[in-house]
Amino acid sequence: MTEKDKLFAGAIPEVYERLMVPLIFEPYAVDLAERVARIKPLDVLEIAAGTGVVTRALAPKLDIEAQLVATDLNQPMLDVAHARQGDDERIVWQQADAMALPLDDESFDVVLCQFGVMFFPDRVKAYREVRRVLKPGGRFLFNAWDRVEANEVAHAVVEALEAGFPENSPSFMRRVPHGYADPEVIRADLVAAGFHDITLEALEKKNGPTTASDAATAFCQGTPIRNEIEERDALALAAVSEAVAEALKKQFGSGMIERRIRAHVVGAVR
Ligand SMILES: C[S@@+](CC[C@H](N)C(=O)[O-])C[C@H]1O[C@@H](n2cnc3c(N)ncnc32)[C@H](O)[C@@H]1O
Repeated sequence: MTEKDKLFAGAIPEVYERLMVPLIFEPYAVDLAERVARIKPLDVLEIAAGTGVVTRALAPKLDIEAQLVATDLNQPMLDVAHARQGDDERIVWQQADAMALPLDDESFDVVLCQFGVMFFPDRVKAYREVRRVLKPGGRFLFNAWDRVEANEVAHAVVEALEAGFPENSPSFMRRVPHGYADPEVIRADLVAAGFHDITLEALEKKNGPTTASDAATAFCQGTPIRNEIEERDALALAAVSEAVAEALKKQFGSGMIERRIRAHVVGAVR
């Protein structure tokens, strides 16, 4: 994990929200929000909330008396989330590193996290933090991407980048979002942090329909892949995005792309 792997700032949040969220995050946000709402929690903490796709799906399902603290490491992501959500007295937006939550012990019924745990440099430590802020019997719900090969568009993007930079390929995708895909490792980390009643479910969906060009822009410009490309050649972003779009067209055709995405959905009890 490098500092730039966690940097969702500059131009990234806007592209992330506009193109990445509908592409692969929305389908799982609906699922995670439904799982949380079924618990009927009153005190809810969201970590790594990003631009708020789960927050937006969850807020209408929460009790009028509920309180939702939505946090993320990167304030620019939360700024987009807050602007899109509008004012809701039940929601507090707070910058917070999941590795050291600035929150009281035993204060939440549920902690949720969509596609964030892969970014935590020490997952057992982060899970201990989650456990600390959960009330006894409280629930931790999160999801994590399966292997990149099980996510068709992401895999095609990775292969195109590897072909484009054969000596020094951008490795963010394999290392981070798809680098925590073994269910037994996830289970062991949760056990090490003191959780019990752990459930793991592989959930397959289709990406939101997209063009090759939008998918290439989403991955190359709306994620920390952007930081990796710019590190290699500060002026190459547009050309690399176009080359990736061409590779996607070659593989999936020039119509709308709607392919398999796959993640693990995880639950655990304090
Ligand atoms: C792939 S995005 C997911 C965002 C959002 N949950 C969604 O579904 O769109 C990963 C998020 O993790 C955040 N993040 C990275 N490291 C973090 C940390 N140590 N603590 C809290 N958030 C972190 C990033 O800022 C980013 O918003």
